[in-house]
Amino acid sequence: MEKKVIAVSSFKGGTGKTSISLNLGSALSLLHDKKVLMIDFDAQANLTAGLGFDPDNHESMAAVLQKNKTVDQVILKTDIPNLDLIAADTWLERVEVTGVLASDRYSHERLNEYLKPLEYDFILIDTPPSLCWLTESAFIASDYSLVCATPEFYSIKGLQRLSYFMHYISKRHPFEVLGVALSFWNKRGKNNDAFLEVVENTFPGKILNTRIRRDIAVSESSIHGKPIFTAFPKSRAAEDYGNLTEELLTRMGCKTALHV
Ligand SMILES: Nc1ncnc2c1ncn2[C@@H]1O[C@H](COP(=O)(O)OP(=O)(O)OP(=O)(O)O)[C@@H](O)[C@H]1O
Ligand SMILES: [Mg+2]
Repeated sequence: MEKKVIAVSSFKGGTGKTSISLNLGSALSLLHDKKVLMIDFDAQANLTAGLGFDPDNHESMAAVLQKNKTVDQVILKTDIPNLDLIAADTWLERVEVTGVLASDRYSHERLNEYLKPLEYDFILIDTPPSLCWLTESAFIASDYSLVCATPEFYSIKGLQRLSYFMHYISKRHPFEVLGVALSFWNKRGKNNDAFLEVVENTFPGKILNTRIRRDIAVSESSIHGKPIFTAFPKSRAAEDYGNLTEELLTRMGCKTALHV
């Protein structure tokens, strides 16, 4: 299987990106036997903490981009077999205006170049909630973008801006919207239909059938530094993230059965 790189993105904060990255990555490796690398590309370092690592103790992709470390030197093994992590740290913030990147006209191409030789089935990049250099670099390095949204007005505005931004980048570097994943879904929400219509107009045919419902188990598992599947395997969040993973594998044309 050819490696697939997915940027998990949204233009608004708190849309479930990091929780989706963490639990999608874990599901791919735990339930589907895939070899996965997760890159925390957000200086907030929530993905790093969510997997039980202290961001202050590990080098991030910033050290690689600044040519101080090789990629292999910053890859961490997690407790889950076949699931690796590149942590985040505060150096990621404004990394493009410092050191060797400051004078590099093509700095946003570098992440792509570093990821190309890596041997994984999937690389997931968790991006910050802004259309910054980090997010642009992540898109350029990706085959797919997984868009995250919540059913509220500000999330919709963010989606439209994200769509323009992706369109602009994809003229130079083709990548595909894999789907729009909706978190904090309430099936009785009174504005659901209006919300879905706007999302459908912005990303036609991309809304994923699986909706991630609100479940306290999501934040509790992150506090324990574990994915939902090991912390609360019987929770409805485990069911939702499991279904989301299967739906995404089907969309990418990958087999979903175990050990195939
Ligand atoms: N389905 C859910 N049910 C309950 N809580 C959730 C759910 N998904 C995410 N959360 C919680 O909501 C908060 C925001 O989620 P998360 O960090 O995944 O969003 P984000 O889009 O990565 O945020 P940011 O834009 O700041 O990076 C976290 O505390 C997380 O634990
Ligand atoms: Mg996040």
